[in-house]
Amino acid sequence: MLRVLAVGFSQTGQLSRLMDSTLAPLVEADNIELTRIDLETHREFPFPWSFFKFFDTMPECVYEDAPAIEPDGIADDAEFDLVILSYQTWFLSPCPPIVSFLKSKMAARIIKDKPVITLIGCRNMWLMGQEAIKERLDDLGGRLIDNVALVDEAHAAYTFYSTPIWMLTGNKGPYFNGRVPKAGLTEEQISDASRFGEAIVKQLPDRAPEDNSPMMAGLGAVKISPGLIASEKVAKRNFRLWGGLMRKFGNPDALARKGILIVYFTFLAIIVLTVMPILAVIKKLLTPFTKKKVANQIAYFARPSGEGRELLNTELDDQLEKGTE
Ligand SMILES: Cc1cc2nc3c(=O)[nH]c(=O)nc-3n(C[C@H](O)[C@H](O)[C@H](O)COP(=O)(O)O)c2cc1C
Repeated sequence: MLRVLAVGFSQTGQLSRLMDSTLAPLVEADNIELTRIDLETHREFPFPWSFFKFFDTMPECVYEDAPAIEPDGIADDAEFDLVILSYQTWFLSPCPPIVSFLKSKMAARIIKDKPVITLIGCRNMWLMGQEAIKERLDDLGGRLIDNVALVDEAHAAYTFYSTPIWMLTGNKGPYFNGRVPKAGLTEEQISDASRFGEAIVKQLPDRAPEDNSPMMAGLGAVKISPGLIASEKVAKRNFRLWGGLMRKFGNPDALARKGILIVYFTFLAIIVLTVMPILAVIKKLLTPFTKKKVANQIAYFARPSGEGRELLNTELDDQLEKGTE
C-alpha cells in the first residue's frame, strides 16, 4: 500500500475543491492510502476581508512570520511515499497556514528525503511564493518533483478588479453585466484537475522511491506569463520594503500601522496608475533584446513539471488555450 499525505488550506473553499478534484482518483485507488489534512490558521483571517485587515496582513505574509503549528490527524510515526502541499499565494508569498505547517516538527520529519508535489490555486502571481516554498523544501530535505499552478483564466486587467472585490465583499461576480467575468478558477479548471491525480495513480506504484522525474509533464501543469516575472520580482521587493516599515510600527492590528498603510496604499495606487504603464511600454520595446533571458527564466520557473501540454486531449487543450489568450 502506498501512503500519500495531502496538506492544504483554503479560505473561500476554492482550493479545497481543487484538492477534492485532484485527489479523487487517489481516493478511488485501492493501492493508495490517502491522508488529507486541512490546515488551521494561527490567527483570525475573516472572510470577506475588511480593507485594513487585508492589507495589514501583508507584512507578516511577506516575512513568513507565522508560528509553527503541529497538524492534527497524523500519527507521530507516520511515513508517506508522497506529500502533496496545496496552498495559495498571499502577497506573492505562501499563505500563512502552509508556512506554519512547513515550520512544524512533523513537516520536518515527514518531508525529509520524500518526493513533494505542490498544488497552487491563485489569481495569477505565484512565482515568488513558490520560490519561498522551494527554499523551505530544500531546508527540510524534501524533493520537489512537480508543481501544478492553476490561475484565473480571465485577463489580468479583469482579475486585478475581480479578485480584490471578491476578497473584500465575498461576491465573486460576474460584474458590470458580465463584462468582467467571475473571479476565481472556472468549474472546468477545477474538474479537469483530476488529470493530475490520475497521473499519480498511474505512475506512483511503478516509481522508484528516489525517482525525481516529474509525473505531470505534458499535462499543462503550469503556464508562465513572461510579463509577470519582472513585475513579481519588483513587487516582492516593494512589499518587503513597506512591510518591514509597517512592522516597525507594531504588530498586526496596531493602530499606528494604519497610518503607514494609508500612505502605502496611496503610493501603490500612484505607482500602478503611472509607473506601471510606462514600465510596460519600456518592457515591450526591449522585448527583442531580452528574448533569450526571458526564455531562460520561463524554463526555470516552469520546472519541474514544465509547460508541456502534449498529453492533454486536443479539445481540452483548445479550450485552455482560448482562455489564456
Ligand atoms: C490576503 C490575500 C492576498 C492575496 N495575494 C495574492 C497574490 O499575491 N497573488 C495571487 O495570485 N493571488 C493572491 N490572492 C488570491 C489567492 O491566491 C486566492 O486566489 C484566493 O484567496 C482564493 O483562494 P481560496 O479560496 O483557496 O482561499 C490573495 C488573497 C488574499 C486573501
